[in-house]
Amino acid sequence: MISQNTIQQIQGRIDIIDIIGSFIKLKKRGTSYLGLCPFHNEKTPSFTVSAAKEIYKCFGCGRSGNSIGFLMEHEKYSYVEALRWLAQKYNVEIEETETTPEQKLQQLSADSLFIINSFAQKFFSDYLFNNEDGQDIGLSYLKQRGFREDIIKKFQIGFNPEARDSFAQAAINAQYNLDLLQKSGLVAIRDERPVDNYRGRIIFPIHNQSGKVLGFGARILKTNDRAPKYINTPENEIYVKSKILYGSYFARMAIDKADECLLVEGYTDVVSLHQAGIENVVASGGTSLTPDQLRLVKKYTNNLTIIYDGDSAGIKAALRGLDLALEESLNVKLVLIPDNEDPDSYVNKVGAAAFTQFVAENKKDFILFQLGVMLQDAGTDSNKKSAVVNQVAETISKINKAEDFTKQQDYIKQCAEILKIEEAGLHALVNKFVREKVNKEENRASRESVIHVNTEGNQNFEVDEEVVSLLYKDEPHERAMVRSLLEFGLKSWNDEQRVADHVFSEIAENQLEELIDNKNLITLIKTYKAWYDEGLEPTAKNFTYHEDNVIRQLAMQVMDYDYEISQNWKEVYEGKIDTREDLYKEEVFSTVNYLKLRKIKRLMDENQRDLEKTKDPEEQLVLLQIHQHLKQMEIELAKNIGTVIFK
Ligand code: CTP
Ligand code: MN
Repeated sequence: MISQNTIQQIQGRIDIIDIIGSFIKLKKRGTSYLGLCPFHNEKTPSFTVSAAKEIYKCFGCGRSGNSIGFLMEHEKYSYVEALRWLAQKYNVEIEETETTPEQKLQQLSADSLFIINSFAQKFFSDYLFNNEDGQDIGLSYLKQRGFREDIIKKFQIGFNPEARDSFAQAAINAQYNLDLLQKSGLVAIRDERPVDNYRGRIIFPIHNQSGKVLGFGARILKTNDRAPKYINTPENEIYVKSKILYGSYFARMAIDKADECLLVEGYTDVVSLHQAGIENVVASGGTSLTPDQLRLVKKYTNNLTIIYDGDSAGIKAALRGLDLALEESLNVKLVLIPDNEDPDSYVNKVGAAAFTQFVAENKKDFILFQLGVMLQDAGTDSNKKSAVVNQVAETISKINKAEDFTKQQDYIKQCAEILKIEEAGLHALVNKFVREKVNKEENRASRESVIHVNTEGNQNFEVDEEVVSLLYKDEPHERAMVRSLLEFGLKSWNDEQRVADHVFSEIAENQLEELIDNKNLITLIKTYKAWYDEGLEPTAKNFTYHEDNVIRQLAMQVMDYDYEISQNWKEVYEGKIDTREDLYKEEVFSTVNYLKLRKIKRLMDENQRDLEKTKDPEEQLVLLQIHQHLKQMEIELAKNIGTVIFK
């Protein structure tokens, strides 16, 4: 781990113009710099860099970020790699934080596994190309399947000799530790003797994002053998199957450029497509996609196209994980390869151009495809058919991000047509699933809800229902609160308190969950509080450079640099307009109270629902009293906010 101290030193020296300027040509334009966007094709420059705000933003493709973000996006560096690059550029000495003995041991073991894997990869490649057996058996097999030497070398494919322990002996002679050799899966102990695990197999190394070898897939040569077709590395410190997509190291730039990731089943599919010049492709190994794998894809693109052979058992497995992809706002398409071919054999048969064309013309929407499969399974059974309707509604309800709203509407329309049911009915069903999900989360949150507000208030004050109804599910208000904390937290609130003190006295840590829906925002606030309590002085910048990607992105979004009043504007109208800066106390006050008001509205709705359900007069009375009480709180809060926001 790089120490916080080092990170702050690097932050202090960053010159974003200098950094981005070393990759693209920038011209000064007013207070900022302008250039051609490196992330999309354009002829007139719309990529701006602001030295003052230390961010870049492209008005063409919408990408934005700070220096670290730029390096990660442009160079495909990890966070730590970007920091090291910056440290080197600005001569900051990197200070690593202390690790615990367990961490050290684990690190040691992980490092050793990488070293062993690298040794093994070289051994297998060397054997394939330079040993007579390797050439006769391994290389001739690969060539007969149509793989070119340059592509075999690029993917570092190799061959494990047939003899009992050739690799094991070489590794032991080179002083590698037998325990670690076993852990790596390369060597096993049989009859108390070390033997090679992948005897007589073609070896596909599996690389991580920086090209280091995590493990291997070892393919048998002979068909009809009783042995398994592939032997894969067992799970260990570095080989965690659920986080790996084969080929991602070779595909990342191409995925970024195409803004699409192709997903196939097998190692050979990836290699063949690469050889044909289609490089934005990764393989899952035929299992259903895990959240970590989806996240890996999402690092590069929002468009995932799954290409499987038509009768693959893998299709259903692949479909299984995909509701999750919807929640992550990935656009998922599906292409089935015809005639018993798989992507590997099909691209070899028809060539790259025809393959690409086929994929483009045969992309099916994932939800509609899934619906088709289920309907076919259901046949004429009306029970099964209504189960399908439910299933589809639930899937569609997973698309719940505000920006995907129209997408959700489109699906409802199309699916209703296919199912031959009323659109309004499907709509209601989808909403039911959305509500159930929200309720589940809310019930958990409201159980211990305690909100301290003054309940003495003006009875005649009118609450604007329309404005208040906007308070539902509205993340902008959550963000606004966090933004005012990040921006003004260290300013004074009154003689004794700073803004942060005030905010944390208004909202106790255990109330965060019930006032704020976005879990990541909660994490951000908790991090702020922890730092603040430690005596650090957290700034927005600390968060936009935070080691956790989610927090970094969120901080950038929350700070929402676009909407700042420009310096220019301020100069022209000096004294005539109130900036957020001038009104910060009111902003803090109202953003905090808004969230409280929203909470009360939700409690009232829940109470109302209970009221509609019960027939017991005593219970009704209690619920009515609760209603009165909540109404009182609502009026009071709305009035306070009203004086600030809606003036
Ligand atoms: N797989 C596995 N273990 C097996 C069979 C398959 O791990 N016993 C995984 C491998 O990752 C393999 C993928 O599933 O790449 C797809 O399987 P398959 O299509 O059978 O293998 P290919 O790699 O495509 O091999 P080939 O083209 O030579 O048949
Ligand atoms: Mn195959």
